[in-house]
Amino acid sequence: MKRFCLSVLGLICLAVSSYAAVSGTVIDASGVPVPDAMITYTNLANRLIYAYSNASGQFCIPAPSEWDLNNLSMYKTLPCNTGVRSVPAGTKAFSGFNIRTQGSTVFFSVGKALHVVTADVYDSRGKFVIRALNRALADGTYSLTLSAGLSRQMYCVRLSDGTHAEIFSMLNCGGRIAAPGLDKIMLSKSSDPVSLAKITAVDGLRVGKTGYAPDTVQLNTYNDGFGNVKITKIDIEYRVDSLLSLMTQDEKIGQLMQPAGTTQDIARTALLGSYLKGEGNAGPMNGALQTRLKIPLIVGNDWVHGGRLVYFPHEVGLGCANDTLLTELAYRIYAMCCLPLYNNECFAPCIDVHRSDFSGRVYEGFAETPELTVPLTRAAVRGLQGTDLSSGTTMMATLKHWAAGGGTNGGGGWANANTAPNLGVLATIHFPPFLAGVKAGVASVMTGYQQVFGVVMSTNKQLVTDTLKTGWGFDGFVITDWGTSNNQEAACVNAGNDLCMTVDPNTFPAKIKAAVPGTIPQARLDDAVKRILRTKFRMGLFENPWPNLNLNNYLASQEYRNVARQCVRKSLVLLKNDNATLPLAKTANVHVVGTWADHMGYQCGGWSATNATLVGNTNALATGDEGWQGSTTAHGIPGATTILQAILAACAGKGTVTSNTTAANIPATANVIVVVVGEAAYAEGSGDKTDISLPADQQTLVQTCAASGKPVVTILITGRPNVLGTIPGNSKALVAAWLPGTEGEGIADVLFGDFNFTGKLSVTWPVSNAQEPINTGNMGDNVGAGGAPLFAYGFGLTYP
Ligand code: BGC
Repeated sequence: MKRFCLSVLGLICLAVSSYAAVSGTVIDASGVPVPDAMITYTNLANRLIYAYSNASGQFCIPAPSEWDLNNLSMYKTLPCNTGVRSVPAGTKAFSGFNIRTQGSTVFFSVGKALHVVTADVYDSRGKFVIRALNRALADGTYSLTLSAGLSRQMYCVRLSDGTHAEIFSMLNCGGRIAAPGLDKIMLSKSSDPVSLAKITAVDGLRVGKTGYAPDTVQLNTYNDGFGNVKITKIDIEYRVDSLLSLMTQDEKIGQLMQPAGTTQDIARTALLGSYLKGEGNAGPMNGALQTRLKIPLIVGNDWVHGGRLVYFPHEVGLGCANDTLLTELAYRIYAMCCLPLYNNECFAPCIDVHRSDFSGRVYEGFAETPELTVPLTRAAVRGLQGTDLSSGTTMMATLKHWAAGGGTNGGGGWANANTAPNLGVLATIHFPPFLAGVKAGVASVMTGYQQVFGVVMSTNKQLVTDTLKTGWGFDGFVITDWGTSNNQEAACVNAGNDLCMTVDPNTFPAKIKAAVPGTIPQARLDDAVKRILRTKFRMGLFENPWPNLNLNNYLASQEYRNVARQCVRKSLVLLKNDNATLPLAKTANVHVVGTWADHMGYQCGGWSATNATLVGNTNALATGDEGWQGSTTAHGIPGATTILQAILAACAGKGTVTSNTTAANIPATANVIVVVVGEAAYAEGSGDKTDISLPADQQTLVQTCAASGKPVVTILITGRPNVLGTIPGNSKALVAAWLPGTEGEGIADVLFGDFNFTGKLSVTWPVSNAQEPINTGNMGDNVGAGGAPLFAYGFGLTYP
């Protein structure tokens, strides 16, 4: 993509005359004139008047005395293409107010008898200048005297009679106006007092290249009676409209597609707007930049707990840690690892408030309550997105799975579950994290597989369009979940989904074309495209579609590992600690038992790159494959530390550490047995169960260890609170370690007392399957057989 990088060198020469037209030439850094640049007198809310540079780069903004908002055609006769706009919507062009200035006095007639009128005057930067009460003249005209000596510049006046407030922008009033009565200074009128701040917030003269790449031209500031005019960036909405107006229907439809992987050729020929899984491949972006409009791609990926050799605890662990700063930091590191693989959309955080532990996605969410999920949602969005999506170290977050994804009961089937029994449950349990994320400025939201009130979310117009977009004012884009738009493309788009995940670029365009305008109104298609483009502009992709590959230098750094290790420490929940069995002495003879003690695949759980193709090599670093269902492979991530390895390191040179995957041959010399049990890795679908008991052989393992008479410390590696059967009774100490990721040392840190336990359960721990769903409080959704939980929500012991 050719990128303009315009800087303008002394380009404005003000015409010297009794009025102050602004004219000049827009040139680029090498002095070449830039045609079709838009030069705007503006403030944040109102584009007051604008002009386009002609083929020679010249422009002219006429003087206020030449403006006649009721007669736009006059501008056709001006030297350059000039126009006047009066925005925002609802603001009417207005010239009948009969304002005139004389010396430092502004006269205005309000057309009816008002009593006392206050006039607050703001300068072009929104700074309050003066408040004046009107003085009524005999003919019902009011006058307002500005302080003598005010410079001639742009002012904004807010008139109020106590009931109504009206805002007027003006130019050229002040002490230097030479010809009384000649200047018609009304430009726009807004009856919305709220917009005062917008109108007065930023004033300036903007210059931008039109079209899809309206690069901002930096102008020298100048001062000629208008005050110092600072050139500000052209606003994104203008760029969006401008680009949309250039697009063909095919190009628009292309923006809606996110196939599961692509090539440079397909990205180019299918006019793709997006695809899934960057995997370090620059090809597709190159393809997109070879298209007519050169619109860069959104590249999505699941980066739900880090990757590229450093995995953090899954969200349920972060929920127990409940540390917003640490969560923010963790997600920023995810972004910095993920970006150089050419991904720029992270399908995270999952903010489902999981209400049933039968669901295989419990570990993907922070907690069973909105109270815990809301602040961590904000933290995760802040971490991924920062305050500037174009910063180079931040990426777009995607809240998932809208709406009420956490309401599935798992056992009933993820895809078909009707997840909210009533509106109250929807509003009080499932909405709050999404609302918090939207308010935090999240760029995108993913609709889930689930149904709400019998309507599958991918086609649920009421919740996608009416609630999320119209109701909450979400102005980013909505993306469908994997495969949900296949074969119901039109229905998905019509419901309000904008980007369609995993569609087939060979068939999708024809289907959408056939549906517009019959099923999908053209305005809906345009709105979807605008939302996607708006996000791309916010991401700064048009300025720079490429990631900062220097971020690769930080991969697997000790700093990243330290943060992950800290997350592990804080995520651990001490459920039982009889006889102060913990902390262990580093000088002890520790016997470590169980497959889970030395198994990186299980320790990381689903969405982790420990699958067979990555074992024992550095591909995980290179590709960052997120390994959907996780791995059954014990080792495979270079630099990662299993629990056994961490215990060995903690005791090195002090105590003795022995180990065995089974309970056979327990050394007589052992002072304590650390047995690690849990669930094998899984993700959505395969993790859905109606029996969440830890298997009998694991219970037997703990029992056999206990039978040795030695104290048993049981560590649970699991994605949910399992039914534990005999395990608690056979354990002197019990620790929920969730799915901690690669930094096993975080567990040793706390086991050996270098750090205290601080984690508290973000989920209620059931005694039996029959109790499911079991959650704290009665929030109006389904409850199981009842009875006291094994461990209550919020429970967690500490060392004294
Ligand atoms: C999951 C999403 C995920 C998507 C893309 C779906 O199956 O439900 O959570 O982001 O796949 O991998």
